[in-house]
Amino acid sequence: MRTRGAVLREVPGRFEVAELEVDDPRQGEIRVRMAASGLCHSDDHHARGDQRVAILPFAGGHEGAGVVEAVGPHTTGFAEGDHVVFSFLPACGRCRWCAHGMQNLCDLGASLGTNARWDDPTSFRLSLDGRPVGQMCGLSTFCEVTTVSTASAVKIDPAIPLDVACLTGCGVGTGWGAAVNSAAVRPGQVVIVMGIGGIGINAVQGAAHAGAATVIAVDPVPFKRESALRFGATHAVTDIAEATELGRQLTNGQGADAAIVTVGVTLGRHVGQALRAVRKGGTCVVVGLGEVRSREGDIPLMELVLYQKRLQGSLFGASAPSADIPAQLRLWQQGALKLEELITTRYTLDQVAEGFDDMHAGRNLRGVIVY
Ligand SMILES: NC(=O)c1ccc[n+]([C@@H]2O[C@H](COP(=O)([O-])OP(=O)(O)OC[C@H]3O[C@@H](n4cnc5c(N)ncnc54)[C@H](O)[C@@H]3O)[C@@H](O)[C@H]2O)c1
Ligand SMILES: [Zn+2]
Ligand SMILES: [Zn+2]
Repeated sequence: MRTRGAVLREVPGRFEVAELEVDDPRQGEIRVRMAASGLCHSDDHHARGDQRVAILPFAGGHEGAGVVEAVGPHTTGFAEGDHVVFSFLPACGRCRWCAHGMQNLCDLGASLGTNARWDDPTSFRLSLDGRPVGQMCGLSTFCEVTTVSTASAVKIDPAIPLDVACLTGCGVGTGWGAAVNSAAVRPGQVVIVMGIGGIGINAVQGAAHAGAATVIAVDPVPFKRESALRFGATHAVTDIAEATELGRQLTNGQGADAAIVTVGVTLGRHVGQALRAVRKGGTCVVVGLGEVRSREGDIPLMELVLYQKRLQGSLFGASAPSADIPAQLRLWQQGALKLEELITTRYTLDQVAEGFDDMHAGRNLRGVIVY
């Protein structure tokens, strides 16, 4: 069937809306009418060429929610009318990582870079004028209708508004889990969050939720700092040097217990700065992505070893999406997690490029396309 979706035709480039053909779901797939899609910096990394696109045109978007409108043949677990949130990482449920509660590391993730199907890098579900179109994370939530694997879909309570729900498909779990799971924040701790976008703001609420006594938000943009204070930050400063100093003042010179790096375009020096900010035995969690080919690092090796610091990468907040997405939505239903407050601006699909301009200008915690 025909649909409209935002694609990149070149890299570096801008997302623009095109008329696409979306295939019917095959076995193990569903076709979903999108209700909402968040604008995450990771899509922009593809537009700018920081991260690689395997095939052009490329249909973006990986943080989305919608309603199932068709189920592939011999496909169990989903029915027409189900409300779903997509997990930006698929989970097969059977590999070593899934079996041990590490769905974020599922082996299916290895194929995401093909922008095609997990099992066949030559098989696509979107096309433009007869040419195959790559799918971001196998999803392409910047399409009005998309066909995805059931390994990427999590059924949710239909009472939950889909614009709120979509945020749990990437930003919420990534940030919240970076604090709760990857930094394993404990009550009373001092936590620094560096970069307050859609990811960092959720690391702030995750750290507060886990009981941190002090959450120091770092961002050069005043709106981000003001926002962080509404999401549980106790302090908000403009740069990491100030946060490091504050962390030391509050801990008799020791330093923060954890520092979480959620900078939009993360560089090696940001990681080094955050690692220096933490105390002996403290944890630096790296969430932000940057130039994909970067091998640049600025790691204070003596501090890492002699102060026994922990440098921890974090993918989708070290979560198990099929359990954690519904759990986060229950927390929202109970008033323990802020979700609608994350949406600064709602856009139409045609305004997608404008949404990314606003992200770069620091105007949004999260921009969301509402279909
Ligand atoms: N690891 C994962 O699983 C995962 C998942 C999603 C996104 N990401 C990555 O996380 C990063 C953040 O994404 P986002 O959508 O929140 O981006 P965003 O652009 O919305 O927010 C980034 C923030 O960083 C701030 N910033 C820039 N330089 C800074 C500095 N030196 N110090 C402090 N703050 C600084 C910006 O002002 C902005 O507020 C991106 O690199 C994205 O690709 C990682
Ligand atoms: Zn994302
Ligand atoms: Zn798996």
